[in-house]
Amino acid sequence: METVLSGIRSTGNLHLGNYLGAVQNFVKMQYDNNCYFFIADYHSLTTHPTPGDLHKSVRQVLVEYLAAGIDPEKSTLYVQSDVPEIAELYLLLNMNAYLGELERTTSFKDKARKQPENINAGLLTYPVLMAADIVIHHADKVPVGKDQEQNLEMARKFARRFNNMYNVEYFKEPVAYNFGKELVKIPGLDGTGKMGKSEGNGIFLADEEAVIRKKIMRAVTDAGPTEPNSVMPEVIANLFTIMDIVSTPDTVKFFKEKYASCEIRYGDLKKQLAEDVCKLIAPINQRIKEIDSDNEYLSKVAKQGAEKARESAAKTVKEVREIIGFRKFY
Ligand code: TYM
Repeated sequence: METVLSGIRSTGNLHLGNYLGAVQNFVKMQYDNNCYFFIADYHSLTTHPTPGDLHKSVRQVLVEYLAAGIDPEKSTLYVQSDVPEIAELYLLLNMNAYLGELERTTSFKDKARKQPENINAGLLTYPVLMAADIVIHHADKVPVGKDQEQNLEMARKFARRFNNMYNVEYFKEPVAYNFGKELVKIPGLDGTGKMGKSEGNGIFLADEEAVIRKKIMRAVTDAGPTEPNSVMPEVIANLFTIMDIVSTPDTVKFFKEKYASCEIRYGDLKKQLAEDVCKLIAPINQRIKEIDSDNEYLSKVAKQGAEKARESAAKTVKEVREIIGFRKFY
């Protein structure tokens, strides 16, 4: 049995990119793997949410994880800050992480550009905290979207470095995982880059059908192809990227042929895409509403998850302390 671990930062509601990149197919793995799903609230502090927002976002991700199909009886579903052992392992791994390599990571450079007034040390050491999240449960596979590939490389590097430094074969090297396929990058609806929580270009699991339809109908397109079989510009290819995942192969084929023969009507394409996205999201949206009102259930799930996660985390930290050479005097 393999250990699978997936995390989502608590900085807002889950969007279609989070769901398709790190949740949808992976909930199926719960039944024959040892799965951990967690809410990365320590990580969200790198952008300084207010206390009220922090708690609200953690709760929302918990609700949406459950609505998306995580079974807390099969998987360990927990909040990162409920497991302080992660913070200790992060501190220990920080001693073997070097300024140069941290400064060179794409996500650090991106964030530093986006929030020049708040380039905190947490942003710099973000990949170290991620590595701690992963290796604390000895994860083999980490379902992530394409944007996290470099962070996974760093996690492997830190695991290997720890083993080399102490001359042990203790940590495994985790791999970024998507069923043997390429990691996915779900594009935003504005034609630029990936779908993100803060980019204003997302479809959210908590969005009502009418909102989803409106967002998709407004997605950026172009004037349409003028030559048969022309190469698709990015804005159009983006809509097909989403369609490839949410629609049937026949539907995709139909619209690709229409594009190739210059007969495509973007209005029809978007209507179909909206239909298929709604079909995917509607049942999750319904469950979000049901679970959201059940405080008792949420509290039970979080408590049970924290206990299970702490057990595994405490064992790792104890062993790491021994490897490093900490000994008690009492
Ligand atoms: P976060 O919260 O930005 O995103 C959570 C997961 O969703 C994936 N994702 C996407 N996949 C495809 N297309 C997109 N447009 C898209 N946007 C987001 C992300 O790749 C990710 O898998 N640092 C992480 C959270 C984290 C974590 C971890 C993940 C903390 N510790 C340990 C795995 C293991 C993050 O900010 O993800």
